[in-house]
Amino acid sequence: MIPDAFIQELLHRVDVVDLIDAYVPLKKAGANFAACCPFHSEKSPSFTVSPSKQFYHCFGCGAHGTAIGFLMEYAGIGFVDAVKELAARAGLAVPDEQANLAPHAPRVPVLTEIMARTAKFYYQRLRCSEKAVAYLKDRGLSGEIARRFGIGYAPEGSQSLANVFSDYVSQDLQLAGLVIKSDSGRLYDRFRDRIMFPIINQKGETIAFGGRVIGPGEPKYLNSPETPLFEKGREVFGLPQARTAIRQSDTVIVVEGYMDVVALAQHGIGNVVATLGTATTATHVQKLLRQAERLVFCFDGDVAGRKAAWRALENCLDVLPEQKTAGFVFLPEKDDPDSFVRRQGRDAFLRMIADATPLSDFLLRELVRNCDLTAAEGRAKLIADARPLLGRLQSISLRLQMIKRLAQVTGFSQGEVEKLCKLRPLVGPAPARAPRPAPLSIPRRLLPLLLQKPQLASSLPLELLPVDSLEGQALRRLSEAIVAADDRAVAYPALLEKLRGDECERILRAAAAELMQQPFAEDEIDAEFDGAVRQLRESESKRVLERLQEKAQRVGVGGLSNEEKQQYLSAISARGGADRAV
Ligand code: UTP
Ligand code: MN
Repeated sequence: MIPDAFIQELLHRVDVVDLIDAYVPLKKAGANFAACCPFHSEKSPSFTVSPSKQFYHCFGCGAHGTAIGFLMEYAGIGFVDAVKELAARAGLAVPDEQANLAPHAPRVPVLTEIMARTAKFYYQRLRCSEKAVAYLKDRGLSGEIARRFGIGYAPEGSQSLANVFSDYVSQDLQLAGLVIKSDSGRLYDRFRDRIMFPIINQKGETIAFGGRVIGPGEPKYLNSPETPLFEKGREVFGLPQARTAIRQSDTVIVVEGYMDVVALAQHGIGNVVATLGTATTATHVQKLLRQAERLVFCFDGDVAGRKAAWRALENCLDVLPEQKTAGFVFLPEKDDPDSFVRRQGRDAFLRMIADATPLSDFLLRELVRNCDLTAAEGRAKLIADARPLLGRLQSISLRLQMIKRLAQVTGFSQGEVEKLCKLRPLVGPAPARAPRPAPLSIPRRLLPLLLQKPQLASSLPLELLPVDSLEGQALRRLSEAIVAADDRAVAYPALLEKLRGDECERILRAAAAELMQQPFAEDEIDAEFDGAVRQLRESESKRVLERLQEKAQRVGVGGLSNEEKQQYLSAISARGGADRAV
């Protein structure tokens, strides 16, 4: 692990404009620099580099990153190599990767070795367990498929791994997520009496496991925790095994479960991966789209499946490049891909994949579901609902397609839809005083303000930020990064590097890109900031008020403590002010 402080130092030394200009000649465009994007083919330049904020963004394909990210993407190299390369150019020595670590700190090669030995052990144990073999057979799996996925069995004993590692008490086993220490200090295997699915990275290394109970039991699947080797939001199950089939079909099918991947492979459908019991992230989408032109999400036909599909769609909006497509398949209620393919067979499944609902159709269908199109209000609501989503679409052709469809169903002209959506043009300078589109939440509104004027971070009341929203989290992290940074100008790119793959990254990227296209005028930024902070305070007092009102109703006003009464009064007066202001 390269220390964050070094990454920050490096980003401070390297100028992203100089770096990129050496590969892609840049032209000045207002406060930024522009060129035709090196990551997708285009005729007019939508690739933009910000000298003041030290990042690049392509309004055509959504490519976005720091100097390090550019080198990784452009030269097709990994993070560490990009850092080394940049450091060499800047005349900096990369600190020894191990030197700064505490004696028990994770050493990636050691953990990788541990995982490899464990995978082998579980794999060998499978054929010794009659009930595990019978279970897999009963689910229709052949020995060949079990081998291909390295499926194993974790024995029943509480310390089976002591058979593999003579040093069972080693901290490294706990860091790898294989051994757990109980409150009383006793050590035991995390995985006991389970069918084991190894999660294997692009290099072919086992980085985590998912373990299924045999038969009924809770939890059905137990997964490795996040470790230095394993970040859930980045990894998928089945990618190495799917690689060839993905290349042949130019399609990646994304399903939810381990068993779905394995069962489809059993039926000769190999281009399938599963997200690991988490929502599909933008990082997943980007990673998979690097492998193929077409992404098809195949979700269960229930409400949860539709929700999962919607989240996947949202994450596609930000990163789906021109010329790549995403489709959605909804299985019949009560089916998952495993049960479907077993019942209906390979051809029926492939037909569904071929007929997947295109992203634009799914988007429109879900929006329309909540609007009454027979009424003018319903049609206006449709546009209002579509607006923030359209603003996030990186693909121009998709955006145009959506505008066309919206015009059709609402009866507005395309021009009117564009105007109503207040869509900014994707390329070219923004009109000087165009109104900013109404953002979704207060934290989301504060993000670009802080990015443009980092000094504001010290006046931001962090305690008022909602803890349960990603946007609140993104704002908190940005603010903390700015306060901690030696050089505020690189606080944003340094944070981007730190958040690689985190869900907050998507939100920050969107805010930074928005700012690049339409910076605030210097004289309005403080007023915008003050306004947003005031609203934060108001919603906080509203929350306090509601809580106290609810309590007063329950226990009577007399049941409130003096302090609570005081809080109640000041919240009411703050609310009164707010109501008058409206
Ligand atoms: P499902 O409950 O749909 O399981 O969870 P499944 O894949 O169809 O499994 P079978 O067919 O019953 O064996 C889908 C995915 O969600 C994650 C796993 O990744 C699983 O494959 N999951 C589910 C967990 O991580 N933990 C659980 O307890 C359940
Ligand atoms: Mn299933």
